[in-house]
Amino acid sequence: MVCLGNICRSPLAEGILQFKVDYSKVQVDSAGMVDYHAGELPDKRSIQVASENLLDITNQRARHFEISDFDKYDLIYAMDKKNQLTLLELAPNENTKNKVRLILDEVFPDEEKDVPDPYYDSVSAFRNVYKMLDEACEIIANKLP
Ligand code: 4NP
Repeated sequence: MVCLGNICRSPLAEGILQFKVDYSKVQVDSAGMVDYHAGELPDKRSIQVASENLLDITNQRARHFEISDFDKYDLIYAMDKKNQLTLLELAPNENTKNKVRLILDEVFPDEEKDVPDPYYDSVSAFRNVYKMLDEACEIIANKLP
């Protein structure tokens, strides 16, 4: 799960999807396209909204996306088209490019919808992000082992 800072959207996506799948079969991780927040906990509003949904994401720490992630993971979900484009530019070959998906395409195929960046917004924007990600992750989880 990839967003810009790895403190708002992708930590929620990681927590939600990991909860929906069998950890012994599917490992979910998240990262950011920038390293501004590396080592930090998720944003407190993401922690709050996760907690409202009985999900604890305080085990997570932000990290910068690494090129080796392309080999390490089978699927790479971008939260928005800008992150997707950056990932596609970084992807070393066709095989890795094919791993990159826009997460809301799972819910709205071919509509190219973004999960809006809630960083400068209110907690209700984080609740909206949670709802979108929960819907997308439910679809993803149903396709995984
Ligand atoms: P995220 O949100 O990409 O969902 O983690 C943001 C977090 C931090 C910044 C921007 C977006 N920032 O500019 O520091």
